[in-house]
Amino acid sequence: MDKIVIEGGYPLKGTVNISGAKNAALPAVAACLLTGGPHRLRGIPRLRDIHTIKSIMEKLGTVFQETGEALEVDSGNLTAHEAPYELVKTMRASILLLGPLLARLGRARISLPGGCAIGARPVNLHLKALVSMGADIHMEHGYINAQASKLKGADIFFDIPTVTGTENIMMAAVTAEGTTTLRNAANEPEIKDLAEMLCAMGADIEGAGTDTIIVHGVDHLTPCEHTIIPDRIEAGTFMIAAALTRGDVHVNGCRPEHLTALTEKLRQTGTKITIKDKSIHVRGPESIESVDIKTMPFPGFATDLQAQFMALMTVAKGWSMFRETVFENRFIHVSELRRLGADIEINGNQALIRGREKLLSAPVMATDLRASASLILAGLVAEGGATEVHRIYHLDRGYEDIETKFRTLGAKIRREKGPSV
Ligand code: EPZ
Repeated sequence: MDKIVIEGGYPLKGTVNISGAKNAALPAVAACLLTGGPHRLRGIPRLRDIHTIKSIMEKLGTVFQETGEALEVDSGNLTAHEAPYELVKTMRASILLLGPLLARLGRARISLPGGCAIGARPVNLHLKALVSMGADIHMEHGYINAQASKLKGADIFFDIPTVTGTENIMMAAVTAEGTTTLRNAANEPEIKDLAEMLCAMGADIEGAGTDTIIVHGVDHLTPCEHTIIPDRIEAGTFMIAAALTRGDVHVNGCRPEHLTALTEKLRQTGTKITIKDKSIHVRGPESIESVDIKTMPFPGFATDLQAQFMALMTVAKGWSMFRETVFENRFIHVSELRRLGADIEINGNQALIRGREKLLSAPVMATDLRASASLILAGLVAEGGATEVHRIYHLDRGYEDIETKFRTLGAKIRREKGPSV
């Protein structure tokens, strides 16, 4: 397994270009199941998770073609309706295939996504909503078996504003009979981006981006062209890295309106932030003030940036309190940060970080996607030799070429091929 080796102590300087959003690209590719193609998707990032969803959809009969600047997707000739365990176990977001397959074929067999490092990750709200739309769903041998001759519009209330649950039901509803109302829906930017793509296919959706979405079923959809929004979590990761290394970084090609909570919190640390139309300029402070964080659904502080911001707080002045309210086990990065000298105490879903003057380099192990990013950031400032981050396949799921982007900003970082296991 590969590892990333970092020599800390180099402030990041220069411009980094942000890739398309992983969490917008996954539902967009899944939505191409709803009708024949070819759809043309621009801004699809080159990530392990994108490779995974393409592999699953190719088994269903979808044909992909990379042209110069777009990914062409054609599901005109679907020959199967099953997403196999060996692929679904590597990416929980495969559950996003359920809604479109049910809408298009009237049946789907998806391996029940297991939990992951950050939590149990149930999909009960997805299934409950589909049943209310007339689907017949039963579990057997670890698979979700779903059938529906014709989905019907329903009035759905989500107990929790689930992101992929909202996306799954929106896709299931676009050709259902009648109107579907999604209440307490998630309003992350990726939801609105998916709705824009579905409307470009001929869907009739209102309210995406708010907590109540109304989908009027239509009879016919057509292929579309769509450009994916930039990745707000990648952009936020580089903003935090700039603050942490006391750098001077231009984060280019992002949507500042998707990063208001992080921008506010970084300003409280003393970081200087200048907002432009499609970019954010970040200048790190000489001394980092500590700041408390509570993760919330959008537009609150993103849970996907919690681990990265914690790396920043480990070398801030004073103490900061983190509350993780979205996932039940999203402090796995803490034990690895402690190996670098961080002083962090966990109590349930709260973590108390006592800022230290410095971190010291050490070998550490990535455990999930955003924890890996947190360890890379800590390595950028750890002193006394090289920090090695192992099991970086987690990182490759959600960051496109991250070490090249950091190297372009002046970091001393390299990937070393490890023995394949
Ligand atoms: C999406 O996951 C993202 N993944 C996650 O990003 C992100 O952390 C999360 O939303 C929250 O913003 C993708 O979009 C592919 P949820 P999702 O359903 O949809 C509970 C990353 O690093 N819940 O909004 O799986 C759930 O357990 C990843 O890019 C149920 O109880 O998250 C959690 O506590 C990590 N039942 C809460 O709701 C359900 O049926 C929010 O989960 C569904 C969810």
